[in-house]
Amino acid sequence: MSPVQVRPAAFKDLDKVHLTVEEKRLLEGEGGEGPAKAMELLVALGDIYGADKLIPIESAQIAGVSYKTMGDGGLEFIEDFSKTAKVKVKSMLNPAGMDLNNPTGESEEFSEKQTRLIEAYASMGIEVSCTCTPYLAGNRPKKGEHLAWSESSAVSFANSVLGAMTNREGGPSALMAAVIGKTPRYGLHIPENRTPDIVYEVEDDPPMALLGHLVGESAADRVPYFRGISPTEDELKSLGAAMAATGSVAMYHVENVTPEAKGYETDGLEKITITSDEINGLKEKLLRDEEPEVVVIGCPHLSQVEIQEIADYLNDKVQKDGPELRIYTSKRVKEMVPKAVKTIERFGKVISDTCMVVSPLEEEFKVSATDSGKAVAYLPKLAKQRVIYLDRRSLLELIA
Ligand code: F3S
Repeated sequence: MSPVQVRPAAFKDLDKVHLTVEEKRLLEGEGGEGPAKAMELLVALGDIYGADKLIPIESAQIAGVSYKTMGDGGLEFIEDFSKTAKVKVKSMLNPAGMDLNNPTGESEEFSEKQTRLIEAYASMGIEVSCTCTPYLAGNRPKKGEHLAWSESSAVSFANSVLGAMTNREGGPSALMAAVIGKTPRYGLHIPENRTPDIVYEVEDDPPMALLGHLVGESAADRVPYFRGISPTEDELKSLGAAMAATGSVAMYHVENVTPEAKGYETDGLEKITITSDEINGLKEKLLRDEEPEVVVIGCPHLSQVEIQEIADYLNDKVQKDGPELRIYTSKRVKEMVPKAVKTIERFGKVISDTCMVVSPLEEEFKVSATDSGKAVAYLPKLAKQRVIYLDRRSLLELIA
C-alpha cells in the first residue's frame, strides 16, 4: 500500500523543524492517515513559531469537547479523525456541554451529539474525565515536565504553580500532540521565555478573581511577576484563570509563592501598582441592579477543599427563596467528597463534566451571579448572560 499523501509538496520548502527519521516516516504517511495529519499540523505550527524540533510530552489536555462550541463541523472532524488515530500519551478532555451521567434537561439532539463527540474522543484512547482542572483529578504534572495542554486556566496553573512547561495549545494542536506524543519546542518550553516581563505591586491582598481580571487586560500575553499577595493554591487557580480570560497570560510568578519566582532580576522591568481603589472600582462595575436567577460557582472546577468549605457553610443553614445554586467540579473530585456533595445537594446541583460557560445555560437563565473572574468575562458572550460578580460568601448568603 502506498503511503498517504497528506502534505503538499510546496510545504517542504518552508521546513524549519528538524525531524527524526521516524517523524519523517510518520509525516509521509507510513503510520497511517491520522498520525500523518497530526505530524502535518505539528510541523506547520513549529515552522510558524520557529521551533527547532519536536519534544516528547508527558500528557495532553484537549479542549473542543462541548457540542455547544464545536457544532456539527467539529463533531464531523473529530469523528472522521478518530477513525485513523490513537493517542500515545495520557490524555484528558476539557469540560463537555453536559453532565454525562446526570443531564440537566438538554435537548435530545444536543445529548445525542454530545455523546457521539465523547465516544469519538474515547475511541482514540482519551480518558473521559472532562475537566479544566486535570491537576486535581489524577494528572498533576511535575516541575520541568513538558505538556501539550489547551485549557487556558490549566495551562496557566501547570506553568506557574507546578513549574511544568506547556504552551497554550488549541484543541486541535493538543490532540495532534497526543497522537504523536510530542509537541514543537518553542514558547514556554524554552526556559528563557518563562522570565517575568512586568511587575505588579499589589495593595491589600484583594480577591484573586478581581486582581486577575484587571491584570489580564494590561499584561496581555506577557509574564507578570506579583509582589504583595500571598494566595492559596485555590486562589492561584482563580488568579490564573481570570488573567487567561481577559488577557492571554499563560504563565506568571508570585514572589515567595510560585516555584520559579526566585532569582529573577526585576529592577529594570515596567512596574504597575494595583490599588484598592482600582479593585473596588472593578467590583462596582461588575454589580448589576437586578436579582440573579442562578448562582454559578466552579470556574475553574472546584477543589475538594472548596467543596468542603461550601458544605460547611451550608450545613446548618435554611434555604432562602432565592436563586438556584449550581456548583461545578470534576467527577473525580465529586467522588472524593461524597458527604459534602450530599449536603450541597440539599440546596442545589453539584454538576460534573461540564461548566456554566460551555453548557447551554442560556436556555434556562438570563441573569447569573458568580465569583469567577473568568466566568464574568465569558458568560455574557458565550452564554448570553447578564452577570453579577460577588465574592463566594456573598453568593452563598443568597442561597441560605
Ligand atoms: Fe473551566 Fe469552564 Fe471556567 S472550562 S475554567 S469552568 S469556563
